Formats: sequence, C-alpha cells, structure tokens
Amino acid sequence: MRDKIVLITGATSGLGKATALNLARRGATVVITCRNREKGEVTQYELINQSDNSNIHLLQADLSNKKEIKELTESFKNIFPRLDILINNAGILGLTKRTENKDGHEMTIATNYLSQFLMSYYMQDWMLKSDEARIINLTSATHKLATIDWDDLMMKNRYQPFIAYSKSKLMVTIFTFELAKKLKSRGVSVNCIDPGTVYTNIAHTYPNSFQFLYKLGEPFMQTPEKGAETIIYLASDKKLTGVTGNLYKKNKVIKPKKNSLDPTLGQKLWDETIKLLNLQENILP
Ligand SMILES: NC(=O)c1ccc[n+]([C@@H]2O[C@H](COP(=O)([O-])OP(=O)(O)OC[C@H]3O[C@@H](n4cnc5c(N)ncnc54)[C@H](OP(=O)(O)O)[C@@H]3O)[C@@H](O)[C@H]2O)c1
Repeated sequence: MRDKIVLITGATSGLGKATALNLARRGATVVITCRNREKGEVTQYELINQSDNSNIHLLQADLSNKKEIKELTESFKNIFPRLDILINNAGILGLTKRTENKDGHEMTIATNYLSQFLMSYYMQDWMLKSDEARIINLTSATHKLATIDWDDLMMKNRYQPFIAYSKSKLMVTIFTFELAKKLKSRGVSVNCIDPGTVYTNIAHTYPNSFQFLYKLGEPFMQTPEKGAETIIYLASDKKLTGVTGNLYKKNKVIKPKKNSLDPTLGQKLWDETIKLLNLQENILP
C-alpha cells in the first residue's frame, strides 16, 4: 500500500481507527478525519506511534454539515495530488430525539448517508487522477429492515432513532450501487460493507440502560480490528481491481435487500439527494 493515498472518515474511534492503523502499518499515506480537533490529534499521534509511519494526516470537519464537508475536500485537494481510496466510515447509531443539521436535514441520515454522498461527489475529480480508485461505504445489515418514505425522507412525521439508522443504511446501500454504475466506465470502483456486530463507541448517544446492555454484550461481539478486516480487504486486495457494485461481509459478496439493486430506485434516490443537497447533477466533465 506504499503508493496509496487513503482518506478515512471518522477514524478517531472503532472501525475507522482500526482500519487506519492497519493501512498505516502497510505503508499507505493515511488521511483521517475528525470532528473534534483534540481527539483527532491524539488519534494521529497514536497511529504514528503504533504504525511507525509518519505519513498520517488529519483533517477536521463535522460531517453532518455540507459546508464543512466541502471545505474538508478542498483542504485535501490543496495538499494531496490524487485520492486512491475513500473509506466513508463515519456514522452514528441515532439520536434519541429528532435533531436537524444546519440545512434542515435529519441528523442521522445527514451523518450516515448525506456525508457519504457529498464526500464521494466532491472527491470524484481527485479519484479520477488515480490509476485505480476505490470507494468503500459502511452500511449495515439493518438496511434490510428499512423502507424509504419518499414523501418524508427526513422523517419529520415519524421519528425513531433505530429506524433513522436503518433508513440511512438503506440509502447508503442503494446509493453505492447507483454510484458504482455511474463511475464504472471511469475506473472508480464502489462497494459497500456490512461489518457485522462490532463493539465500538457507536451506541454512545443511546440511553445508559442500552449502553449497559451493550457493554454486557461485548464478549459476543467482534473487536474493531476483526470488524475492520473486510474494509481492509476491499481497500488492499489486488484481485478486486475493477470489481464494483457489491455488498460485502466477511470478505464475501452477500445479497442486499431485494429491491436495493433496482436501477429505477437508485436513480430516484440520486435525483432526490441532488435536490435535497442543492447540487449540480454532475460535476465531472
Ligand atoms: N459497530 C457496529 O456493530 C457496526 C455495524 C454495522 C455498521 N457499522 C458502521 O460502521 C461505521 C463506523 O462505526 P463504529 O461502530 O466504528 O462507531 P464509532 O466507534 O462510534 O466511530 C464512529 C466514527 O464516526 C465519527 N463521527 C460521528 N459523527 C460524526 C460527525 N458528525 N462528523 C465527523 N465525524 C463523525 C466519530 O467521531 P467521534 O470520535 O468524534 O465520535 C467516530 O470517529 C458507521 O458507519 C457504522 O454505522 C457499525
């Protein structure tokens, strides 16, 4: 991985941090993102020490915020000549009370899905500069439980934290397949991953009673290092060159929710997201 430039969102904890350490140990240039500068600097220091790779860089942005995502991608482009691997990992499990970001979008969907869309959208031009670019999106098995309510995408009428999470992951899954189609002829592969159940900080916004149960479950869950194995496989395995448009679990392609591969649905979600985020249809020439 010595010649690869990797950008990992949400690498101050859990799966993102474990992925960053592994790829740093393989010699990649690793750019991590954080929302809290202090936490980011501590993570950067730990990664450099534990990997013996000083090529670990830090960028800060609240990924629930469109303007900050744009600024982050601009900072990246000012420093690095291209992007080889984008790992859209940052996520939250859900907030007990419905919250909106500055653009009026529901916070879980903004953090988990809209951030992946925006990162991929703004970084497309820099990924085309790579000989072989890969986008890896973190989804979850919970996407199978969700449906999309086209009349209420941002859950204004009926909000429930776990449903917001599973909806955000269904959107990630459908978006992955649609983006894979759109970028196939341009040499950028796009896949998503269900990491399984992993003991991380993901539940920290849930009530203490849930966190107590979560802690009790720790021995039955994977460690972040184990959970990150499929992310690392997708980022590093040479056999996967050009392989695109799949959902992976434990280094294998698995079936997503039945209709998430429907191209009509993919295009519809694409169009609605472009409208929601007030973006141009296509930034590529
Ligand atoms: N854990 C599981 O069992 C599991 C299962 C399926 C899918 N996943 C997915 O895996 C991904 C990683 O989750 P994890 O389990 O490793 O959780 P985690 O330990 O809580 O890590 C989440 C990361 O995202 C960052 N983040 C959250 N909101 C952000 C925001 N608004 N702006 C910038 N960064 C933000 C966090 O930053 P801070 O450190 O500042 O909080 C942290 O670095 C998520 O997409 C999650 O949905 C996890």
